[in-house]
Amino acid sequence: MLHQSDTFSILYYMLLIPIQWKSAANQFLYPPEYQSHFSGLVLSHEKIRARIRELAALLHQHCQVHARARPLLVCTLKGACTFFVHLTEELQLLRQGFDVEFVRAKSYVGTESSGAVRLLLGQEDADGLEVLEHFKGRHVVLVEDILDTGTTLEKLVPVLHEKGQPASIQVVTLLDKRLKDGTEKKFKADFIGFSIPDVFIIGYGLDYNELYRDLRDIFVISQAGIEFDAKKLHDG
Ligand code: IMP
Ligand code: MG
Repeated sequence: MLHQSDTFSILYYMLLIPIQWKSAANQFLYPPEYQSHFSGLVLSHEKIRARIRELAALLHQHCQVHARARPLLVCTLKGACTFFVHLTEELQLLRQGFDVEFVRAKSYVGTESSGAVRLLLGQEDADGLEVLEHFKGRHVVLVEDILDTGTTLEKLVPVLHEKGQPASIQVVTLLDKRLKDGTEKKFKADFIGFSIPDVFIIGYGLDYNELYRDLRDIFVISQAGIEFDAKKLHDG
């Protein structure tokens, strides 16, 4: 059930995004321990999946027209993992071939972009160098969950170019946050699923301090969700 905790912020969000209030609790499926941890729905699972189908069609078209080569799909862990699974499923239905690779980037602490991005790329060889041998000469499609300030991709994409030497890198992001007061993003994606307002969201792979990635839908986190101690779920 949605918990109407903070009336002011709920009204504020309703002006910006079409938050859907659902009266029947069973219309959402989520673990019972998350009761009262959301203040509103941003995107339903069905809406996300429908848009991913469209994104897959766009990527398929792009691969046929521009690259004419089998793309290397690169998932940025952990947030993009759910999006990645469903995107690759749609590409399979279109008979679009692809290879897969994984990189890891971490920048958020709580609900704020920390500015410092930590990257984990491939394995280390005997000399301690990172190797991205699968990237060489390939048409890479980097799959991101959400593009906020652009700090992560501004750091990640040049590193992939430099160390991996791919033929090209295109970025597909499920979500693109509109920044407050029209601040310019440090990086722009080539394919965007949804443009969303500048609110902190959870679900469908997106976390708040490692919690809520297991939600099917995307919600605005409530104050109770922010204050919840995740360690309570680890014991017993
Ligand atoms: P950026 O570096 O500011 O563009 O932030 C991008 C990264 O921060 C994303 O890949 C996410 O992992 C994380 N992030 C940004 N906004 C949110 C959010 O609203 N909820 C959860 N994670 C977010
Ligand atoms: Mg991410």
